[in-house]
Amino acid sequence: MKALIPAAGLGTRFLPATKAQPKEMLLVVDRPAIQYVVEEGLASAADEVVIVNSREKKAIEDHFAPNPELVALLRERGKDAYADAVEAVGSYPVSYVYQEEALGLGHAVRCAAEKTAGEPFYVLLGDVLVPDNGMLPAMQAVSDAHGGASVIAVMPVPDDEVSRFGVIAGAPISDDVWKVDALVEKPALEDAPSNLAVFGRYLLSPRVMELLADVQPGVGGEIQLTDALDAVLAEEEMYALIVDPADGFDTGTVESWLETNNILFQRKNG
Ligand code: G1P
Repeated sequence: MKALIPAAGLGTRFLPATKAQPKEMLLVVDRPAIQYVVEEGLASAADEVVIVNSREKKAIEDHFAPNPELVALLRERGKDAYADAVEAVGSYPVSYVYQEEALGLGHAVRCAAEKTAGEPFYVLLGDVLVPDNGMLPAMQAVSDAHGGASVIAVMPVPDDEVSRFGVIAGAPISDDVWKVDALVEKPALEDAPSNLAVFGRYLLSPRVMELLADVQPGVGGEIQLTDALDAVLAEEEMYALIVDPADGFDTGTVESWLETNNILFQRKNG
């Protein structure tokens, strides 16, 4: 089973910091943001992480490539903890596919179709960090309880934020699980069917990957993953796990990235 991480975006909100450095490589406490996301994928059932990259962002690939010369140098100098860290990150099973044009999240996911080989797959959005790695196993458990159905993480958001997210319609079947009836990408508040926003972690059935091939551009002229999820509901069940906002950290804006650094630094050193 693969975990897909779309990473071909331009990082516009972080310019000029992201002019020459990918947004995904910005430091969060002691490692680049994307390293948390890769480690989360590998801590779950994923045997490989597939990064959907752009050709311009080679620094991401350099980060996950082995560097035996650096490891040897660090060991020679007695810096074994650093050598271990460098060695570990260079040994993760990470592969790459390329999104040649920024046509939307759904398009990015579709670029990895051959990698998923007709199996269920995770999608992990890189703006959100889940440092305790607990969310994907919880989603997998919901899927297992419902015959392998797709499961998405959702989070309650205030009214003024609803139109920034994909939003679900459905009904609760337990304290923290909803059965999903429909999804809408970035609805106006008056059209939003709930205040439960898609949070950036998805466990998806292979049928979603197939349907993505036919999704037409939607909100913002982009091919939306949310539209494929809505389409699959005509054929398959889907569940939403309501996650605690405190379990995930947004790094999508300079402000939230700084705040995440502060919180995670306190946690590490507190
Ligand atoms: C994407 C998805 C949206 C989801 C959001 C979570 O939007 O399209 O459904 O709620 O991520 O962060 P984006 O933030 O890329 O506009």
